[in-house]
Amino acid sequence: MAQALQEIHDFLPCATPQQWIDNALANQDLMLIDHAHCEKKAASTALSLMYRYVDNSDLLNKMSRLAREELRHFEQVLAIIDKRGVSYCHLTPARYAAGLRAGVRTDDPGRLVDVMVVGAIIEARSCERFAALTPFLDEELAEFYSSLLKSEARHYRDYLALAEQANGGPVDERVAEFIATEKQLILEPDSEFRFHSGPVA
Ligand SMILES: [Fe+2]
Ligand SMILES: [Fe+2]
Repeated sequence: MAQALQEIHDFLPCATPQQWIDNALANQDLMLIDHAHCEKKAASTALSLMYRYVDNSDLLNKMSRLAREELRHFEQVLAIIDKRGVSYCHLTPARYAAGLRAGVRTDDPGRLVDVMVVGAIIEARSCERFAALTPFLDEELAEFYSSLLKSEARHYRDYLALAEQANGGPVDERVAEFIATEKQLILEPDSEFRFHSGPVA
């Protein structure tokens, strides 16, 4: 696992700032609610890709498995939310995913390449944040977040492999472009705390 995490740290443009970790620890109920939304959204994105790219069996298999795993994660977060007496509710989405998707090209195959690169970045960042939070969490949450690391690291690699396959070769240039945007979204002050937000003052 240490090796997979190192790979993710090498891939991402920066570490999560301490201010965000402090925000998360001070807003754990909100973090859990947003985390549940993220898992649900991850499953739904994978399913919608399965509707659009019906002729790509590698994508269909990887996205089908990923959607099942994300829904399982959703159930696990929901169980913790219920156990803690937190009420699950709607939240305004973070600027993060929309900020990344703004750079996605509109026509295929460029669109597919970019959506896969964005997917890889989101999975990598989730993995990095779970790891960053784990030392500060209570035992139950620390154990749960450590257990998520492994699957999110695999999702990162699956998305990257699908991006390279769709591109017919390396995607370094696209990664560099999206990573530059990601760095801003992670480091620049944000107005609302979310799982993928920037630091909130
Ligand atoms: Fe997940
Ligand atoms: Fe994932």
